[in-house]
Amino acid sequence: MHRDLQEVLIPEDKLQARVAELAAEISRDYKGRCVTLIGVLKGCVLFLSDLLQNMNIETNVDFMMLSSYSGAQSTGVVRTILDLKQNIEGKDVLIVEDIVDSGLTMGYMMKNLATRQPRSLEICTLLDKTVCRKTSVPIKYPGFVIPDKFVVGYGLDYNELYRNLPYIGVLKRSALKEEGK
Ligand code: IMP
Ligand code: MG
Repeated sequence: MHRDLQEVLIPEDKLQARVAELAAEISRDYKGRCVTLIGVLKGCVLFLSDLLQNMNIETNVDFMMLSSYSGAQSTGVVRTILDLKQNIEGKDVLIVEDIVDSGLTMGYMMKNLATRQPRSLEICTLLDKTVCRKTSVPIKYPGFVIPDKFVVGYGLDYNELYRNLPYIGVLKRSALKEEGK
């Protein structure tokens, strides 16, 4: 375990097994169609990569980058930093997110993408902090429901660090020093 962590919340084998299950479920639901996966940068990258490799249907990938966080504190204001390259009108769109916390980011993204008239629009998130929700978001494919703890690893960062860890861990309070936590 990395020395800045107090615990490993989800070990690598459990993560990989659940990602394979999600990929199988999505492949079944979209069978015979092409699904457009929209990864939310940067936290989605490891999850999206493993999900894609476990899917056995036609896929199309694009990315968006949104911003609402600085450090471990949400500002509550969501902005588009990088928009899609593709037109998603008439497409089956599946958002691939690392974690849904307050739900503000996904709420913003669902509203924004819905105006572009996709054929369908759903959310897949690896982690779901259900107790932190400020606005309700319909999550069709949740990976794991987790408690209100700041987690890193498997794509998730704290000030751009720890994305490379192959598991999900909880940071020690001392590692969250900039926020005075
Ligand atoms: P929301 O808008 O509050 O739902 O926050 C969504 C975004 O905040 C996620 O996509 C993450 O990038 C970031 N975030 C929320 N909780 C955590 C966490 O525990 N660790 C790392 N990033 C987080
Ligand atoms: Mg994210």
